Amino acid sequence: MRKPFIAGNWKLNKTADEAEEFIKSFLPLVQGVKDVEIGIAPQYLAIPALVAASRGSNVGIGSQDNYWEASGAFTGEVSAEMIKSAGCIYAIIGHSERRQFFGETNATVNQKLKAALAAGLHPIVCIGESLAERESGITEKVCEDHLRGGLAGLESAQMQTITIAYEPVWAIGTGKTATPEQAQEVHAFCRNLLEDMFSAEVAAATRIQYGGSVKPDNVKDLMAQTDIDGALVGGASLKPDSFAALVNFNK
Ligand code: PGA
Repeated sequence: MRKPFIAGNWKLNKTADEAEEFIKSFLPLVQGVKDVEIGIAPQYLAIPALVAASRGSNVGIGSQDNYWEASGAFTGEVSAEMIKSAGCIYAIIGHSERRQFFGETNATVNQKLKAALAAGLHPIVCIGESLAERESGITEKVCEDHLRGGLAGLESAQMQTITIAYEPVWAIGTGKTATPEQAQEVHAFCRNLLEDMFSAEVAAATRIQYGGSVKPDNVKDLMAQTDIDGALVGGASLKPDSFAALVNFNK
């Protein structure tokens, strides 16, 4: 059985103080939740405050990116080892905003993914098509390229700690969610592809989150789909109440 996994991607929001304030209100709202895995990925500078404030709780902290080299002359970068040593569990890799604004490609996603795995982080690998790509009927091809390129060279055993996040770019921050059926179709496609790339066991065990305007009022229908195992949430993860409502989707 795949344990549902709800993760917040805070993007470029919240100072360390604001993050601490959030977690103080949020933890009591999700206290005792054991059947859903909960993650939050703040900006780097808020990681120490969140790690300290969530210690011993059921909430894990993650980064929104990581560089592939461990150290050296790479001004502005943060390595997977540094993220791990700050107390993070997760690392989001290949988010569409990084692909769109920061030149991320399937090849760099692959390098970052390997570095995250080597550091012992649990990666959340983002894939998904743009509106133009959906309209020209190449959604599956784009997702296949993202998966084959992003996961290239990995062994089946390395898939154990990896989560895939399917996020149609046209649904991110736009209020336009894919319908549960549209999302399920792509999730099923990705799961079949994982079987082809690795094995039936890997395909059955890998969690695939949906992301793109997930809100308390649409999460239930999305989570009811066979191949949707969680959500990667931007906007609705910024307020303790709405993020807790997402985590408690099955209550
Ligand atoms: P959104 O963002 O929930 O604000 O659409 C999702 C994401 O980009 O991960």
